[in-house]
Amino acid sequence: MKLLVTGGAGFIGSAVVRLAVSRGHDVVNLDALTYAACLDNVASVASSPLYTFEQVDICDMPALEAAFAKHQPDAVMHLAAESHVDRSIDGPGAFIETNVIGTYNMLQAARGYWEGNGKPESFRFHHISTDEVFGSLGAKGQFTEETPYDPRSPYSASKASSDHLVRAWAETYGLPVVLTNCSNNYGPFHFPEKLVPVVILNALHGKPIPIYGKGENVRDWLYVEDHADALLLVLQDGMLNRSYNIGGENELSNLELVQMICTILDKLRPANKPYADQIKFVTDRPGHDMRYAIDPSRIREELGWRPSVTVEQGLEKTVRWYLDNEAWWKPLLDRSGVGERLGKA
Ligand SMILES: NC(=O)c1ccc[n+]([C@@H]2O[C@H](COP(=O)([O-])OP(=O)(O)OC[C@H]3O[C@@H](n4cnc5c(N)ncnc54)[C@H](O)[C@@H]3O)[C@@H](O)[C@H]2O)c1
Repeated sequence: MKLLVTGGAGFIGSAVVRLAVSRGHDVVNLDALTYAACLDNVASVASSPLYTFEQVDICDMPALEAAFAKHQPDAVMHLAAESHVDRSIDGPGAFIETNVIGTYNMLQAARGYWEGNGKPESFRFHHISTDEVFGSLGAKGQFTEETPYDPRSPYSASKASSDHLVRAWAETYGLPVVLTNCSNNYGPFHFPEKLVPVVILNALHGKPIPIYGKGENVRDWLYVEDHADALLLVLQDGMLNRSYNIGGENELSNLELVQMICTILDKLRPANKPYADQIKFVTDRPGHDMRYAIDPSRIREELGWRPSVTVEQGLEKTVRWYLDNEAWWKPLLDRSGVGERLGKA
């Protein structure tokens, strides 16, 4: 297939690009290269004849239309987004621009291209979204595909809006779509201001390891390469106009997650005291959702997908990767806002 992947220089998009090229797909990586992007994430495929890069902002409609006309994709995987909840608290405008208006532009450009080509049934617009659109769970229960939307942060509200637009374009114009809503990802090439890399890098630098509130917030963690695998499966075998929840079946409180990373570091890079001694509880994020948990029955039963690693295995791979790839993360620490406490509101 020829895939147009948006946001392919980011964390998850680059994992999709690397996996898709390794499986023989033609990939056009369309990315504006915002602060969150890093083309080194796709360096391993950059010289492949299957890979092309286009620096395009999804808010630029003429540039999008030109990219569709030039590359004639069989499918779109739309990952480009502003993705950091804390940044959405400080500056929600960029989230409305990219996640809402940008997705609207993507849908219109895809629709124009699809209609202009005789509405091929095989075309797919795969919209990649988050479990955060479902809001916050109490101690029990899991999000299914039928859970009502209840977003509570500017980030999750902007993603929820984009999901609604995608469903509307399927119902109204017949655009062939699939949607996925995934839990928290972690793994190699994770931008250094997100929780897992912050823990690893602050630990290594002897800095306090910040945990919001009491560290009781629970997330369902998924290794990024398992997510990329699930996304390609849904694109190829998922039912038309259907959504799939993707989760790791690995629920952990933030405190448990951080302690697990510290224990792995104690083993791989022993210091003169346990890394967990650096843990520092800090003022909570405003509107911090208490618990997310995914019921992955649909993707498991319909498509036979399961994560390939447990969170213990995935975190160990991730910590090893950060220890071995200082040349990747070091320059990123100098980017705007990285290392600062964002989103205190
Ligand atoms: N990170 C997670 O845990 C997680 C979980 C579920 C779903 N998601 C979703 O997956 C997608 C990717 O997330 P991520 O963590 O890789 O994000 P990321 O912030 O690492 O990467 C986003 C990429 O999109 C690009 N981008 C941003 N604005 C753009 C614009 N206007 N035009 C073109 N490109 C633009 C950036 O340059 C960057 O390369 C997002 O849609 C996000 O909502 C993320």
